Amino acid sequence: MTRLRRVECTIKRVAVIGPGAIGLFFGGLLSRLGLDVWFLDKSEERAAYLVKHGLLLEETTGVTSIPLKVTTDTTGIGPCDLVIICVKSYDTESAASLLPSLIHQNTLVLTLQNGLGHVEVLKKVLPERQIAVGVTFHGVTLVETGHIRHAGAGPTCIGSFLPDEKARGQLAKLVEILTTAGLATKLVDNIEEIVWNKLMVNIGINALSALTRLKNGDLVKSPEIQNLMAMAITEALAVARSKGLRANPQAVEEAKAACLATAENRSSMLQDVLNKKRTEIEAINGAVVKEAKALGIATPVNEVLTILVKGIEKSYNLQAER
Ligand code: PAF
Repeated sequence: MTRLRRVECTIKRVAVIGPGAIGLFFGGLLSRLGLDVWFLDKSEERAAYLVKHGLLLEETTGVTSIPLKVTTDTTGIGPCDLVIICVKSYDTESAASLLPSLIHQNTLVLTLQNGLGHVEVLKKVLPERQIAVGVTFHGVTLVETGHIRHAGAGPTCIGSFLPDEKARGQLAKLVEILTTAGLATKLVDNIEEIVWNKLMVNIGINALSALTRLKNGDLVKSPEIQNLMAMAITEALAVARSKGLRANPQAVEEAKAACLATAENRSSMLQDVLNKKRTEIEAINGAVVKEAKALGIATPVNEVLTILVKGIEKSYNLQAER
């Protein structure tokens, strides 16, 4: 509580929608800081487990146990000052449908999701000045339900797609609170470019690993896969440039470096495919294809990657029927 008193705290009650690794990490640290944090889960069973056992947070500095407030419906939470959305991209609409009962006129809704298109969905239920976009480079793994491992600290950037001075003031408060909680955060003017920069890494790694079943480090051992990675990223860079964004000229090299830095990881998309779960392909390669079509640009490599990963998703049901 002492650290909390040091920041003039306009953010008191927080809801985290989606208690995956990043949701538990951000919400857990805010709860440890002393904020009133609620987690919204779509699974009754997991919510009950998390309430009973709390969060086990492994950090390089030690292991902490943090009690959690978890529920499957918004009744009883009341209006929050901050809502953090950490659901998979395809669950954004259902997360957005919970917002009307969680917000007041100054609530900030922060999307911390992978891929593109989330602001467009959120804008349907609240004014854009209340929407913050975040990109985080923390390496957090879900070891098992209620147990996360924070293996690598990275920066978090927050910004708004809207150049609005009032929104900036509110975002500055959010940055201060996150940083005080131990999540070093920067307020940036070019969050859309940062979203695209992170997207390039996912464009280069996720679908290729899901299709080949190779770990990230093994992708760059094959010159042919490296070429495909470069082709997919180069297409996405052309789309970013056409949108007037400053595309990162080092994007291909950075994706390869990310493969080496996370060599032993199975990408989130490969994990989804191995667990026969829906992937985020539509918000990653698929989103680039969609943007490209609107701009009249050809993105054949991303189109093929999207079709093939969607084909794998279809095969889950066919295998079950046999
Ligand atoms: O989605 C993922 O798995 C991660 O964003 C990354 C960086 C590709 C590492 O596996």
